[in-house]
Amino acid sequence: MIRLSQMKLPRRTRAGAKPLALPSPVEARDFSRRLRAWYRRHARDLPWRRTRDAYHILVSELMLQQTQVSRVLDFYARFLARFPDLGSLAAAREQQVLAQWRGLGYYARARNLHKLARRVVREEAPRYGGVLPQAPEALRALPGVGAYTAGAVASFAFEQRAALVDTNVARVLQRFFAPHLHPKRARDLTTLWSIAEAVLPRTGRASWTHNQALMELGALVCTARVRHCGRCPLRGECQSATND
Ligand code: ADE
Repeated sequence: MIRLSQMKLPRRTRAGAKPLALPSPVEARDFSRRLRAWYRRHARDLPWRRTRDAYHILVSELMLQQTQVSRVLDFYARFLARFPDLGSLAAAREQQVLAQWRGLGYYARARNLHKLARRVVREEAPRYGGVLPQAPEALRALPGVGAYTAGAVASFAFEQRAALVDTNVARVLQRFFAPHLHPKRARDLTTLWSIAEAVLPRTGRASWTHNQALMELGALVCTARVRHCGRCPLRGECQSATND
């Protein structure tokens, strides 16, 4: 006789919850196509979207952490006027770097950026040759570069087919595909990264637009405070859409 405790039961992610199926290739393609078409019509013209300079993009991404776009615009322009490339940043003293960052807050970002420049340009010059690496895993090894920033630089500067998840992207994916997930829970965030990878389009070029579009939708339409579902290109299939 088989005892109940020995029977194989289907694995559940949580009591009563079905395991999440990742989006199928067809769902992924439809999601990304709608998103990119919307982006081409509605995206803001931002300076870091006009460049493929990896250092400039890294600076923008670090400044944009915890800080609104409108505040970053001036700091970004001034910082790059003073330190136009990794070499000029590596040659500066930390106090000079912090002076350019003053007013933006979260100064660990500036200290790490300075350390990164010194490492790439001086301390480990034979390894890096003075330039930022292109692969997300290699970028992650650098000071202050987490999974999101690594994905952003790989995608936005090098047009790699790399996924990225920040709080905006996590919210969009969670609302659309998996409303039962909690982006602040580590395990659920890992699932959202898997979803972000599953919905990436096939090419690096299309992934650039797709990733910018996910961020833009989270910033303008699917915001933390309000869901503007009436303006959303994804509302037809969204699991959290409301009738506004
Ligand atoms: N926040 C972080 N990265 C961004 C980007 N590329 N565009 C707009 N907001 C962002």
